[in-house]
Amino acid sequence: MKCIYMCLIAGLISSGILIAKELPEPYRSVDILPFDDHGWFAQNNRIRLEYIIDKLKPKVVVELGSWLGASTIFMAEKLSEGAILYAVDNWNQQGSAGVQNNPLWSSKLKTLYQSFLSNVIHKKMTQIVIPIRMDTLEAARALNITAELVYVDASHEEEDVYNDIIHWYPHLDIGGILRLEGTFSFRLGGDGLDIYANASLVLEPIGSVDVTGWLRIDSQGLVALIDISLDLSFGESIGLEFSASARLEINTTSSGQEVPTSNTDPDDPSSGSGTPRVILPGFLLRIEGSINFLGFASLYL
Ligand SMILES: C[S@@+](CC[C@H](N)C(=O)[O-])C[C@H]1O[C@@H](n2cnc3c(N)ncnc32)[C@H](O)[C@@H]1O
Repeated sequence: MKCIYMCLIAGLISSGILIAKELPEPYRSVDILPFDDHGWFAQNNRIRLEYIIDKLKPKVVVELGSWLGASTIFMAEKLSEGAILYAVDNWNQQGSAGVQNNPLWSSKLKTLYQSFLSNVIHKKMTQIVIPIRMDTLEAARALNITAELVYVDASHEEEDVYNDIIHWYPHLDIGGILRLEGTFSFRLGGDGLDIYANASLVLEPIGSVDVTGWLRIDSQGLVALIDISLDLSFGESIGLEFSASARLEINTTSSGQEVPTSNTDPDDPSSGSGTPRVILPGFLLRIEGSINFLGFASLYL
């Protein structure tokens, strides 16, 4: 009799029922439902996220759009010790039109949040996953957090995705993953400062871009001419193939400004040959080339 009692307790502990009291909120208050593995977490995304998490070893991750937690739990399981993942979702019982029109998906709506919390409990990720039940933009305004990785998978409407990126970009800590390597020449003369750069901008773990350019800051304003070309392997690790180059022109002064030609010796501004280029006031970004997404779609610029 004693053995049956002990075995029953052990069973309850392993199923997570007795330890529910020790769970942090909001997990503690939930009536646990059976595990539900439904989701839209594609194999391509798994491979790329695993690669990025392995390389970046982020301490803070934000996920926008968690549904029942398929991607949430996958990422949480890959994080290093002490890392946390904020799962931002409104877990709205209305659902989008696409969800409402599918009987299987819409059947999940009534208990969506409860199922998400239950799934995280079943997978023992409650110390890592912090649910934020808010609209994504509301959360971007309300939360004072910085993350090394923000996974955007909430609404898939073009405008919503754009807004999620714009609102969450300021929360992204890129300090640890951006590196500038190369040669920089500075020349202080007249009333301003000239900077010549011949460098690589390394964006871990995606790849590097070559940056050559010139920038002048003086009493009239800022003038810059920067050429950027992407290394052939840029983006390969996350399934993107770029063949693109870009030219950025900035002139904040009120008149056209002459730029030193590319063969000008920074130490001798009069040494360049060829017709000097003039940058007109304003901002110009010209991108040429193509981007291939995951081998199934191409964007030509
Ligand atoms: C495509 S599902 C997420 C799928 C999930 N990442 C997975 O791997 O299974 C989109 C989720 O985003 C949530 N969502 C959509 N628009 C939102 C918004 N504006 N704010 C917060 N959550 C939103 C929905 O409730 C839904 O759970």
